[in-house]
Amino acid sequence: MAFTIKINGSEHSIDADGDTPLLWVLRDILEMTGTKFGCGMGLCGACTVHVDGIATRSCITSIDSIAGAEITTIEAIGATATGAGIQKAWLDREVVQCGYCQSGQIMSAAALLASNPHPTDSDIDEAMSGNICRCGTYGRVRAAIKQAAQSK
Ligand code: FES
Ligand code: FES
Repeated sequence: MAFTIKINGSEHSIDADGDTPLLWVLRDILEMTGTKFGCGMGLCGACTVHVDGIATRSCITSIDSIAGAEITTIEAIGATATGAGIQKAWLDREVVQCGYCQSGQIMSAAALLASNPHPTDSDIDEAMSGNICRCGTYGRVRAAIKQAAQSK
C-alpha cells in the first residue's frame, strides 16, 4: 500500500504495509540511518524522532498512524534554533561516549526545550527518563540541556 509521509520538510511516497514501523521506513527504505534501533519495543529511546514536535518512539509507530504529520529526525534537528543550541552544548560538554543512544537523547532534549525552554532538574529527568544510555552519560546530558536552555 502507498503512503505519503513528510519527513524533514520533504514528502516521501512509501510502498509498505500500514503496520510497518516508522523506524524501518527511515532506516531500511529511506536509508536515513541517524535514527537508531535499540530495543524495538519502545523501551530504550534510541529511535526517538519528533511527530508534530512530540518526542515519539519510531520503532512502535506505524506509518498508517502518522498520515499528515510532520516528522523530524536527527538529520534535520540542527536546522532549528533549539536543535542547533543542543548540538553545540553536546559538543561543549563532550556528552557522547559510544554514541548509540545519542540521536534519541538529542531528539528528546530538543522536544523538551521546544515545549519548556527553562526546565527544572525534575523536568529534565522526567523528559529524559525513557532514554537509556549504557555508557552512563546521564550527568553530561543533563548539564548540556541546562547549557542549551541558558543560551536560549
Ligand atoms: S528502539 Fe525504539 S524505544 Fe528502543
Ligand atoms: S553514549 Fe553509549 S549508549 Fe549512550
